[in-house]
Amino acid sequence: MMEKLRIALIGAGVIGEVHAKIIADHPLAALAAIVDIDPKTKRIAELYGVAHYRTQEELYQNEAVDAADICTPEETHITEAIKAANAKKHIFLEKPIAKTVADAKSIQEAAKINNVRLMIGHVLKFDPRYVALNEAVKSGQLGEISSIFVRRNCTQSMAKRLNGKVSFLYYLAVHDIEWMLDYVGSCPVKAYAQYSAKGNAAYHEKDTMFAVINFENGAIGCIETCWALPDNTPSGLMSAVNLVGTLGSAALENTNHCLTITLQDKILCPDILHWPLYNGAIHGDLREELNHFILATLGGKPYLVNTDNAIAAIGVVEGCLQSMETGHPVILGQ
Ligand SMILES: NC(=O)c1ccc[n+]([C@@H]2O[C@H](COP(=O)([O-])OP(=O)(O)OC[C@H]3O[C@@H](n4cnc5c(N)ncnc54)[C@H](O)[C@@H]3O)[C@@H](O)[C@H]2O)c1
Repeated sequence: MMEKLRIALIGAGVIGEVHAKIIADHPLAALAAIVDIDPKTKRIAELYGVAHYRTQEELYQNEAVDAADICTPEETHITEAIKAANAKKHIFLEKPIAKTVADAKSIQEAAKINNVRLMIGHVLKFDPRYVALNEAVKSGQLGEISSIFVRRNCTQSMAKRLNGKVSFLYYLAVHDIEWMLDYVGSCPVKAYAQYSAKGNAAYHEKDTMFAVINFENGAIGCIETCWALPDNTPSGLMSAVNLVGTLGSAALENTNHCLTITLQDKILCPDILHWPLYNGAIHGDLREELNHFILATLGGKPYLVNTDNAIAAIGVVEGCLQSMETGHPVILGQ
C-alpha cells in the first residue's frame, strides 16, 4: 500500500478550513498539523485531532511533514512558501502565487534550489467547464483566438470581509487571467484598466474593473471583475467566458451553479461546483485540485498547473493595477 502524504495546513481561514476537511478525508493523505497565527483556529486542529502551531519553524521542530499546504493571505505567500521550500517540504500554494512577478520568481527558484515540488492553487484548472473549453481551443476546432472576455463578479460581502487587505485582482481576477493566458497562448503585451469605486469605497476597495489586454499575436482580451453585487445575489457569483476564434466561438456562463431553489421569501443557488459539502464530504473543483496534488506528489507525476503561467498572470495583474493608478495603458513585461 502507498504511504500517505503528510500535509500540514498553513493558514486555517476561510479556504484553509475547507482544505483541512478535504485532506483529513483523503485516503492517501494525512492532515499532519495546523499552523496559524490566530489562536482561534485551534478549534480546527481539535476537530481533526492534530497539533496546532503558530509558525512553520515550530511545526518542523515537532512533526514529520512531507508537504505544506499554504492558505495564508496573499502578502505572506513569499515568506511562507520560502520557509516551506527551505525546510525541504513540497508545496501547495493557494493562488495568487505572490503579489509581484519578482516574488513569484523567488518562490519558484526556492522550490527549484531545494528540490521540492510546487503547485499553485489555480482551482479553475480543475473546473470541468473551463477544462472542456480548453480542450476545444487546443484541438484547433475554434481556429485562432481573436477575442476573449472573462467575468468574475461577486457580492459586496467579500469586499467588506477583506476590507482593503487585498485587491480584487489578486482575490478574483487572477483565476480568469491565468486561464485567459492559457487559452490565447500568446504573450500579453499591453494592459489598459479602468475602475469605479462607489459602494465599496467604505471598504477601501473598488467596485468594478474593466481591463483590455492586447496580445503579441493580435488577439484582444477583456476582463470584468467586480465585488459589488448585492449580498442577496442567489449564487453569490456571476462568472463567464466568451471566446471568439477564426473558426468558431464558445460561451461559458455561471449565474446559478446550475441549481435554483425557489422559496416563499428567497431564491437559493447553492454552490455545487467549487467546494460544495454534501454526503458528508467536500466535492467539486477544490477536491479535484487537492486530490491531483496528493496523487501527483506521491506518484512523482507533473502537476497540471503551470507555474510559469501562474507567474505570467501576476504580470498582467501588476499591469492592470498600474494602469488603474495612472489612468494610462501599461506596456507589460518592462
Ligand atoms: N482557490 C480559491 O478559489 C480561493 C478562495 C479563497 C481564497 N483563496 C486564497 O487563499 C488564501 C487565503 O485566503 P482566505 O480568504 O482563506 O484568507 P483568510 O484571511 O480567511 O485566512 C488566512 C488565515 O491565515 C492566517 N495567517 C495569516 N498570516 C499567517 C502566517 N504568516 N502564518 C500562519 N497563518 C497565518 C490567518 O490567521 C487566517 O486564519 C489567499 O491567497 C486567497 O487568495 C483562494
